[in-house]
Amino acid sequence: MKIAVLPGDGIGPEIVAQAVKVLKALNLNLTMTEAPIGGAGYEAAGDPLPDATLQLAKDSDAVLLGAVGDWKYDKLERHLRPERGLLRIRKELNLFANLRPALLYPELAGASTLKPEIVSGLDLMIIRELTGDIYFGQPRGISTLENGEREGINTMRYNESEIKRIGRVAFDIAMKRNKKVCSVDKANVLETTELWRQVMIELSAEYPEVELSHMYVDNAAMQLIRAPKQFDVMVTGNIFGDILSDEASMLTGSIGMLPSASLDANNKGMYEPSHGSAPDIAGKDIANPLATILSAAMMLRYTFNDEANAVKIENACKKALAQGYRTADIATEGCNLVGCNAMGDAVVAAL
Ligand code: NAI
Ligand code: MG
Repeated sequence: MKIAVLPGDGIGPEIVAQAVKVLKALNLNLTMTEAPIGGAGYEAAGDPLPDATLQLAKDSDAVLLGAVGDWKYDKLERHLRPERGLLRIRKELNLFANLRPALLYPELAGASTLKPEIVSGLDLMIIRELTGDIYFGQPRGISTLENGEREGINTMRYNESEIKRIGRVAFDIAMKRNKKVCSVDKANVLETTELWRQVMIELSAEYPEVELSHMYVDNAAMQLIRAPKQFDVMVTGNIFGDILSDEASMLTGSIGMLPSASLDANNKGMYEPSHGSAPDIAGKDIANPLATILSAAMMLRYTFNDEANAVKIENACKKALAQGYRTADIATEGCNLVGCNAMGDAVVAAL
């Protein structure tokens, strides 16, 4: 099992080191090879996604990524900026399925801005299509009209096969969970999502055990805050998923807790925390490594089909929290406040 380890910038190297430590503690047959990406790639090879890094990622079964970006690169031309490395690797690896679980650990019920009874026990999986929709549709751009006024255009676009492949991911995951899928669209006004809804209904015939429901995106935004526990698997397009998954992240308290997986058609994937490189706290050993460690668990589950060890890692994270270990972002009174490295050690000890 080959893993490309791309720590990136800011807190990236600190948090990735903890996930690597946890993976090593499991004594699996893993080959982990490190390479630079983002600002680190620019420093090493003048390119936010050096050829050697991309080749390594293509030759590996999975990619474990920290985060990219730092304010000091803001003045670079767009194609040299760290974020471009991330967008390119997602595109090059054809990672069309973005999985973002929003799971509230009981120990952190008080960390959410919502009332504990609304969020306690929350275990939601948002599946966002990642390579299509209005972000990539043509035509796009800003042009000047004949009357001198400027006009901006983006095009919402999905074809049947794109909808089908993300729909399948959602139904397959629902089969392993509670057999419920809520498909989010705006089929009342947008034809693209009217097709989305039709294809989801057709596809559902292949999954008779799964209960498919539909919701308009504006209502879904409201329901996520009103009663988030009504959802189990939610599947939606790129732009709706971008917004709803950020909204859902806040149900769980800290961005430092949220893992993610981005998969291609063969379950090859890239695994990374949902947060960025947090340059404001980089190098201080105070970042929360749990989102990255939980991303490594997702890697075992989705790419290596190793549910047992994925659950082992998740349980070890829970145990470390139950023992009172907290990084600063999730600290509460009377907790055992630890740094990034010590939190990694606590998870390894719990394993
Ligand atoms: P950010 O997610 O890096 O940080 C937002 C806030 O959350 C900061 O106060 C930070 O200290 C805190 N935070 C983030 N992760 C944390 C962790 N694990 N533990 C404790 N606190 C944590 O987003 P921001 O500040 O908007 O962007 C910083 C840089 O990261 C930029 O260069 C941006 O482009 C990049 N970025 C990269 C992403 C990626 O690599 N996937 C995603 C989002 C931003
Ligand atoms: Mg977003």
